[in-house]
Amino acid sequence: QNELFLIKTNNQGASNMSINAKDIDFNNLGFNYMDLPYRFRAYYRDGQWQDEGLTDDPNIHISEGSTILHYGQGAFEGLKAYRTQSGEINLFRPDQNAIRMTHSCDRLLMPEYPVDKFVDAVKQTVAANKDFVPPYGTGATLYLRPYIVGVGGNIGVHPAQEYIFSIFAMPVGNYFKGGLTPTAFITSEYDRAAHKGTGANKVGGNYAASLFPGDYAHQNGYSDCIYLDPISHRKVEEVGSANFFGITKDNVFLTPKSPSILPSVTKYSLLYLAKEKLGLGTKEGDVFIDQFDEFTEAGACGTAAVISPIGSITHGDDKHVFYSETEVGPVTRKLYDTLTGIQFGELDAPEGWIQKV
Ligand code: PLP
Ligand code: COI
Repeated sequence: QNELFLIKTNNQGASNMSINAKDIDFNNLGFNYMDLPYRFRAYYRDGQWQDEGLTDDPNIHISEGSTILHYGQGAFEGLKAYRTQSGEINLFRPDQNAIRMTHSCDRLLMPEYPVDKFVDAVKQTVAANKDFVPPYGTGATLYLRPYIVGVGGNIGVHPAQEYIFSIFAMPVGNYFKGGLTPTAFITSEYDRAAHKGTGANKVGGNYAASLFPGDYAHQNGYSDCIYLDPISHRKVEEVGSANFFGITKDNVFLTPKSPSILPSVTKYSLLYLAKEKLGLGTKEGDVFIDQFDEFTEAGACGTAAVISPIGSITHGDDKHVFYSETEVGPVTRKLYDTLTGIQFGELDAPEGWIQKV
C-alpha cells in the first residue's frame, strides 16, 4: 500500500536513517521519540493549505525569523493508534483532537487545518508506518504527534504568513513509569497557565512553563506535579501532562472544571463511561486541596498517561495517600479496563469513537 503514497525524499540528501520495526522491543517501550520512515506534511502559503503528503525527512528547514522560534506560535496534539486482536488498527476519537487543534489555532491566530483532512492525514501516517503499530497484547500503541507551527521571515509580534502542519508517529509504552501501579505526585507553587491565558489550548508555552516545576518534581522522586488554580492556589487544576480525577466516597467521578486546564479527550470519554457503563455519578467541579479525604481513589488521565493511578499527593508538609501507594483501586481499574477495552477493540465502542485505519 505504501507505494500509493506521495513520498518526498529527504531534501538534505542524507540516507534515510529511520529505525527498523524488527529492531524494536515492543514489550519494553517508554515514551521516546523515534525516527519512523514516514511523516505527513502540509504547508500554508498564499492563504491556503497545500498538502505535501508523506515524506521520509524527519527535519524541517525554517526561517530564523519564524514565529514559532521567538513567540511560540505553534500548537500540537496527541492521539494513538491501537492494534486489535484480529490485527486491525483502531484510532480513538481522532476527530476530537482535530477539533481541539482548531481551537488552539484560533487562540494563536493560526489558520485551522480542516478536521476531515486532519483525520485523513492521521490515517495516512499510520498506514505508512503500520509495521510500527505495536502487536496486540503488548499494551503498547502508536502515538501520533500532529503539530502546526508559524514559519517564514517575520520578527514583529504578529501572526506568521506561512505555517507547517505535520504529523509524526512513534511506538510508545507507559508515559508514567508505574503503568497501573500508583505513583507519587507533588503540588507546584508555580502556575503552568494563567486564568485567562492559554491553558485550555495545547500550545508549547504551557509546556515550556511546566519544565522547571516538572524537573523539580522528577528530581525529588515524583512522577510529575499537580498544578493548582492560578487565582487562589487552593484547587487542583491538572497534572503537567494529564487531567486529574478522583472517585469520591459516594462513588462520584469528580474532575476539576477550570478555564486554564486542557479539555482532555480521555477525561470526557471517562466522564461518559463512568456514568453509562459503570453507573457512577459524575461531576466537573472544584477539587479543593484540603478536601482530599473525600476521595477513595485518584488518578491522572490522558492519551499518553492513559489512566495512571495517583498513590499520593504531597502539598507542602502534608502527604495525602489515596487508595494505596502500591495497588490500583477497584474503580480506577474498572475505568482503565473499560477505556482500553474499547480502544483495543475488545469492547463495543460508543457510536463514532473508533475509526479504522
Ligand atoms: N492535560 C495536559 C496538560 C495534556 O498535555 C494532556 C495530553 O494531551 C492532557 C491533559 C490529556 O488530554 P487528552 O486526554 O486529550 O490526551
Ligand atoms: C498527550 O497525552 O498526548 C500529551 O500530549 C501529553 C504529553 C506527552 C505532553
